[in-house]
Amino acid sequence: MKPRIFVTRRIPEAGLEPLRHAADVEIWPDPLPPPYPVLVRKVAGIDALVSLLTDTVDAGLMDAAGTGLKVISQMAVGFDNIDLAAATGRGIAVGNTPGVLTDTTADFAWALLMAAARRVAEGDRFARAGRWKTWGPVDFLGPDVTGATLGIVGFGRIGQAVAKRALGFDMRILYTSRNHHPEAARRYRAEYADLDALLGAADFVTLHTNLSPETHHLMNDARFRAMKPGSVLVNTARGPVVDPAALYRALTRGPLACAALDVTEPEPLPPGDPLFALENIIISPHIASASYGTRARMAAMAAENLLAGLRGERLPHCVNPQVYPGGGPAA
Ligand code: DGY
Repeated sequence: MKPRIFVTRRIPEAGLEPLRHAADVEIWPDPLPPPYPVLVRKVAGIDALVSLLTDTVDAGLMDAAGTGLKVISQMAVGFDNIDLAAATGRGIAVGNTPGVLTDTTADFAWALLMAAARRVAEGDRFARAGRWKTWGPVDFLGPDVTGATLGIVGFGRIGQAVAKRALGFDMRILYTSRNHHPEAARRYRAEYADLDALLGAADFVTLHTNLSPETHHLMNDARFRAMKPGSVLVNTARGPVVDPAALYRALTRGPLACAALDVTEPEPLPPGDPLFALENIIISPHIASASYGTRARMAAMAAENLLAGLRGERLPHCVNPQVYPGGGPAA
């Protein structure tokens, strides 16, 4: 009998095709994620799950799947929606898709940074509203990017890719991270700074941490107060890294000139959210990795992880290697 797989949304064909060869695949057909109670029913008896960051994959879901569940393959690099300890405790391998979205996400962080600094979205709204009457010598002024100081919070793959791009803008680059990265720092002429020093010096701050209890609301009132007046915040990491109420205060009372978010808390941000009322914020719907090529590569990688798990092999990209004998430290 073929193994059974549930895929929680239609993903690119590059991921679905290899799965169909190897298993009975059920795909949730709706554009919105399956509600949790539906997901609980759908996973009963499956051998493997392809999950997205919009799915709550907790102990209850794993138990609803039953003891045949061998692998959870997340089509994303982040996996904070998955209870990793619960998976590890049940011997379920969890895979993710690192690396393939690094450049695409760094490109998008830059798109947001530039758009926020140079008020692109505001200018577009202004022009569409028929308010563009003349070239104004003091209209739509914003901070220069070239030669400014960039603060990168989280210096993993994506943070480093952002630094690489900053070299072309002759920026001073500061980074903060759990670990020092001397080699990457040399390569990208980046200096280590602790978070408060970075916030006090940077004209642009871009977030690239994962979400954990340590980074939840990392950007709170105190941290915003530490930021340089007129600075810009970009978040392409996870919404809850920023306290949204504190962000609102920082955007309305200072010190922030503007912010650009690809991720929010909650997600999606409801239409009446006060942040939507502000002119000095750009909000995009979690699309930093959304290029054709990258999403296809993420799907293919999710399939590779899943199929390896079904064959009883080690996942090529496993975030809980402790499930294997002598497996190594947690992700
Ligand atoms: C991820 O992979 O974690 C991103 O947030 C979506 O691509």
